[in-house]
Amino acid sequence: MKEELISFNDVLIKPKYSNVTSRKDVDLSTRLSGKLKLDIPIIAANMDTVCEEEMATSMSKLGGMGILHRNLSIGERLQSIRILNINSCLAGVAIGVNELDKRYITSFTQGGVNALVIDVAHGDALHVYNAIIETKCFLERNAPDVCLIGGNVATGEAVERMVDAGVDCVKVGIGPGAACLTRINTGVGVPQLSAIMECAARADHLGVSCIADGGIKTPGDVAKAIAAGADAVMLGGMLAGTDEAPGDIYTDGNGRRVKGYRGMASSGVGSDYVEGAEGHVDYKGPVADVVTGIKNGLRSAMSYSGAFNISEFHAKSEFVRVSNASLSENGAHGTIL
Ligand code: XMP
Repeated sequence: MKEELISFNDVLIKPKYSNVTSRKDVDLSTRLSGKLKLDIPIIAANMDTVCEEEMATSMSKLGGMGILHRNLSIGERLQSIRILNINSCLAGVAIGVNELDKRYITSFTQGGVNALVIDVAHGDALHVYNAIIETKCFLERNAPDVCLIGGNVATGEAVERMVDAGVDCVKVGIGPGAACLTRINTGVGVPQLSAIMECAARADHLGVSCIADGGIKTPGDVAKAIAAGADAVMLGGMLAGTDEAPGDIYTDGNGRRVKGYRGMASSGVGSDYVEGAEGHVDYKGPVADVVTGIKNGLRSAMSYSGAFNISEFHAKSEFVRVSNASLSENGAHGTIL
């Protein structure tokens, strides 16, 4: 067994000398591939309680991107891609390894898709690599500007295999998500911050980008994921419950206004191998408010490291390990809210 691996709550970002005088001077833009640049490093997860056309539109207008989920039919995804394209919004779409019919990919690329996401629970698998190789060959010949994202993985060796297969960007996270039961039901996973550090370092070395996917609960976690080397974060639970997420607002047993949130491998979605939970999250209002909070937190975190942009943040940021006792210092305490 290797050394103890860590997750978000095990560390804080060490404050460092900074010559950033205004947080407004901090640039949050990031690159997922040569042709795909985002103004902010935030991506809405391809989940049926998080991202359909409305969320993808808002996320793109806010500078990020949304990925349309796979429970939408091919026709529904295509229609949304076309509408996003007409509205000058970025369009990302998830496609299953069993959906690699060239006609579908052709229709998505002709519709103006910017990113294709081939992700399954365990991306480090032969059938996934075969799907990526096939898709990459097709894109190279027909739509070289489309960013190919593959996942999910949690080890450096898997990143190498993903890059060999042809991805432009790897997605990292096995089991850390808010609605994930993978670790409980299978015992499989890698603590997410260590997974990000290992995978992002390997991805960077191999010249591809890296998305930290799952387990991010606060703007501070976003900052830690980017500090650990991720080029962008993918958010499910943090964006679920907003106006733009699919589903209606309802009141739970305690009188709280909530919206549904469920894992894509939950029984409600129809998965035979249940590795996802099904429930709800607090209603959060417009997604722009959540994104503003994240942007403010990230800009501030970068200024604490003396970083004017994300690549400087990667290079300059340093973590300090924290004890369990110090965790009680984090957040408001002794203050009646
Ligand atoms: P957060 O923590 O942002 O995580 O809500 C979102 C990510 O969780 C993953 N996901 C799942 N993982 N079982 C899992 O083990 C599931 O049913 C499931 N559904 C989504 C996915 O990577 C997503 O982006």
